[in-house]
Amino acid sequence: MSTELEREIARRRTFAIISHPDAGKTTLTEKLLLYGGAIHLAGSVKAKRARRHATSDWMELEKERGISVTSSVLQFPYRGHAVNLLDTPGHQDFSEDTYRTLAAADAAVMLIDAAKGVEPQTKKLFKVCRMRGIPIFTFVNKLDRYGRSPLELMDELEQVLGIRAYPMNWPIGSGPEFRGVYDRNSKNVHVFTSDESHGESEVAERVVPLDAPEMASVLTDAERAKLQEDIDLLDIGGDAFDRSKVDSGQLSPMFFGSAMTNFGVRPFLDAFLELAPLPAGRKAVTGFVEPTREAFSGFVFKIQANMDPSHRDRIAFLRVVSGKYEKGMSAFHSRLGKDVRLAKPSQFMAAERTAIEDAWPGDVIGLFDPGQYRIGDSLAKGGPLDFEGVPRFSPEHFAVVRAKDPLRRKQMEKGLEQLSEEGTIQIFQQPQMGMKDPIVGVVGALQFEVLQYRIEHEYGAQILLDRLPYTHARWVVGPQFDAKTFDWEGNRQTVQDRDGLPLVLFRDDWALQHAEDKHPEFTFLSAAPQLRAGAVVAAPA
Ligand code: G4P
Repeated sequence: MSTELEREIARRRTFAIISHPDAGKTTLTEKLLLYGGAIHLAGSVKAKRARRHATSDWMELEKERGISVTSSVLQFPYRGHAVNLLDTPGHQDFSEDTYRTLAAADAAVMLIDAAKGVEPQTKKLFKVCRMRGIPIFTFVNKLDRYGRSPLELMDELEQVLGIRAYPMNWPIGSGPEFRGVYDRNSKNVHVFTSDESHGESEVAERVVPLDAPEMASVLTDAERAKLQEDIDLLDIGGDAFDRSKVDSGQLSPMFFGSAMTNFGVRPFLDAFLELAPLPAGRKAVTGFVEPTREAFSGFVFKIQANMDPSHRDRIAFLRVVSGKYEKGMSAFHSRLGKDVRLAKPSQFMAAERTAIEDAWPGDVIGLFDPGQYRIGDSLAKGGPLDFEGVPRFSPEHFAVVRAKDPLRRKQMEKGLEQLSEEGTIQIFQQPQMGMKDPIVGVVGALQFEVLQYRIEHEYGAQILLDRLPYTHARWVVGPQFDAKTFDWEGNRQTVQDRDGLPLVLFRDDWALQHAEDKHPEFTFLSAAPQLRAGAVVAAPA
């Protein structure tokens, strides 16, 4: 085994931040980059303000609505580590994208607003992390504001999510009375100092041992006594730190801080990198692939078109599972059954792309995609390898789509085709109805808005969407299935996917149940049959 490969694996960490919108993910991400030396001025306030007024950049919708629509992948160096942060969209309608991104991460940081606690989107995303069994770290944010008591938050984690927390540090006060955090390991107090710059530069850190005489100038007697009481409570009543429970996602190391003021970001990053797992291998159909396998391998978890409007290109994001990627190399594309050249790889530094020479397990590379990749595709040096586990979800919202101006139909079709390859939408045809207009299915209803926006701005066609009353799509397998006779019970409709496979759209649970009961000769699948190699999961409720 190459020692270089081992060394590169050892210094890599790949993770994603999961949170409910507004918990401070953008802010924390910027601060992590700031500490990684990747940007000199974090300035979340400025960036957001600029975002609100920017009109010329790509994905204007994202800016107008102040939500992050697409995931981006960032790599930054920090104290000898190469840290890969996979950013995930916060809005629930884009959760499909988030789930796939989590398939490429080895750990998750669950960001919680101290005043709000566990919110619906946190809960959903947490479930996905649980399913994958990856370590989950908790960062409780906004301590500079009044929030819930830390004990209450720990309790909520256990009651709502079913995970126990191990506080790595402990907050002293909150809001205007926030004094800092006590580090349980070093027994030092990190003293909170708020400057007026909104955390645009690194904070000067003042660390005072709890038993130092100087502590008298930091905490009042009452604050000191309360802290001691809390510490005793945690030491006696709390969980012991158990590394194996952290690794299996049963115990969450918990941190407190304030991303906006940078407070607690560095201690968090230091501890996180120490505890977060090394890049893990992945399960393939033929067996588990270790990252130390010499031969390069990886899987595509995301496809993104038109990232840069001046280059009409498409990027396939590939997570390296094993071996070393070298610029210009070829690898075997399992689905296509042939070698392909992995062209124009890039890594992403915020919105900028930089060409890369090599990449290692845990890294994500962006491959130029002339239309040959699909989500879930595996690439491997020296022969076929099929990785499992990139989830595909069955759409839950449907609409017939038409070009407003019939002369623009071609542009519309091109846009639909490309966006379906990205995995943003699924397209179904309805030939047996004699209808030319396709049906589009999406997992979250907001994706319709994105679809309309992107087809107009990237392909120059305005589209009309007529919503359909269906909520489930099921591929049908069975020798006697005949779309014509199966159609029209009134609460369902048969369509075809892009590969010509039949599937039925059902109005509701009842309609699906009814068909299943009445037709035991057919199997109704929530994902296309040829994609089923263990890669199918249902969207968590
Ligand atoms: P998101 O990506 O999770 O949606 O959250 P984002 O970072 O955009 O933060 C949401 C809001 O919370 C922002 O305020 C941000 O400044 C604020 N915030 C983030 N971290 C902290 C923190 O540690 N303390 C406090 N007090 N606030 C925090 P905003 O008013 O929406 O925007 P802005 O005008 O401040 O930019």
